[in-house]
Amino acid sequence: MSQKTDQWTSKLGFILAAAGSAIGLGAIWKLPYVAGTSGGGAFFIIFLLFTILLGLPLLLAEFTIGRHTQKEAVSAYRSIAPGSKWPWIGKLGVATSFLLLSFYSVVGGWIVVYLYRAFTMNIKGIAPDEFATMFEQTISNPYLAIFAHFIFILMTIIIVQGGVQKGIERSSKLMMPALFILFILIVLRSVTLDGAMEGVKFFLLPDFTSVTGETVLFALGQAFFSLSLGVSIMVTYSSYLKSKESLPRSAVSIVGLTIFISLLAGLAIFPAVFAFGLEPTEGPPLIFIVLPAVFSSIPFGNVFFILFMALLLFATLTSAFSLLEMVVASLTKNDPSKRKKSSWIAGIAIFVMGIPSALSYGVLADPVFFGLTFFDFLDFLVSNILLPLGALLIAIFVPLKINKKTLAAEIQQGSNMKMIWFHIWFNLVKYVIPVAISLAFLNVLGII
Ligand code: PHE
Repeated sequence: MSQKTDQWTSKLGFILAAAGSAIGLGAIWKLPYVAGTSGGGAFFIIFLLFTILLGLPLLLAEFTIGRHTQKEAVSAYRSIAPGSKWPWIGKLGVATSFLLLSFYSVVGGWIVVYLYRAFTMNIKGIAPDEFATMFEQTISNPYLAIFAHFIFILMTIIIVQGGVQKGIERSSKLMMPALFILFILIVLRSVTLDGAMEGVKFFLLPDFTSVTGETVLFALGQAFFSLSLGVSIMVTYSSYLKSKESLPRSAVSIVGLTIFISLLAGLAIFPAVFAFGLEPTEGPPLIFIVLPAVFSSIPFGNVFFILFMALLLFATLTSAFSLLEMVVASLTKNDPSKRKKSSWIAGIAIFVMGIPSALSYGVLADPVFFGLTFFDFLDFLVSNILLPLGALLIAIFVPLKINKKTLAAEIQQGSNMKMIWFHIWFNLVKYVIPVAISLAFLNVLGII
């Protein structure tokens, strides 16, 4: 059953797909909103630390499993540990992807709405706080929220069922750099607004007195979320990779890009938040309020607004494909004839699952679980529990089930990584990642 041949024709194809999965709403939408509600600078520093010390080694671990087995997630674990419960890591990844895409697609829908808005409205002269009202009015409309969520998931299904991701990934060669450039322009505008320095300080100057166990758990969740870790997507993607490519180099470039775009997102948002007298604690709607306000204050703002929303939609879709692909791959079990049907079934089920999240800014705005709305609850469950849990299991699995020599040989194929780096990596995976994640869990549970 290991239909392993569909290899990336080039290293670029793989990097583009993996980076496409990583870079998306995590760095651009989620980072500013979580940093805003979790105290700013200290959060960002902890996030950076986790991304480098835990995220990077874990990304390399997922790559290693994938390329070593040349199999998609569930079969990969099965082939390394046959007859055991370990393939459940893959199944947990499928379930997590399913839940994650259900609310991810709701935010994707907001982008669709804003793209439409960008074409049809004139943002010049609108006051910053009016954008907050505009968001509420738009998204609280239940029909619109559900319709937009539907359109986003529909786009995702259409591309995944046709198996044309490769084409899309190639276009990201153009779209991603364009998004970066546009972001740099926004940052330049944002940091030169009157009163912007307050925001730069808020985002970059750490105040560790405000750090709680929750801040740490959120930063951990954010690090995994923005690198697409803990759901074995990176296992599946690297399974198509030829052995002559360097895994460490690929991992470092993806982590570098993700950190860079997270930094840009924070520097685009917070200076403007403070300059316009908005609240950093706005939560998930944050970028949808702040960015239009920035665009309304620059020449050709409408054009930039359109461009930005289009590029953001693109970046979001490339992450959404990876999530739907994960679910579809588990349904088709590598039988291409089932691809179409599975994509539609999985996509529609995810659409239905996402409906309560889509309504969480309107008719379901009252808390339903643990004082959270459905949307916030699902986001919390996925980002801060399921992703770290998946990451913990992968970090336990790798040193336990794969022989150290085999790991060294796999990582060194196609790269000339020094042995010292290999040992550092191995120890980070074997000790630091499991201990850090367990401590974060125990702390939030109040056990330590
Ligand atoms: N990394 C993606 C983003 O930042 C989200 C994602 C998480 C995708 C986990 C796949 C798996 O938008």
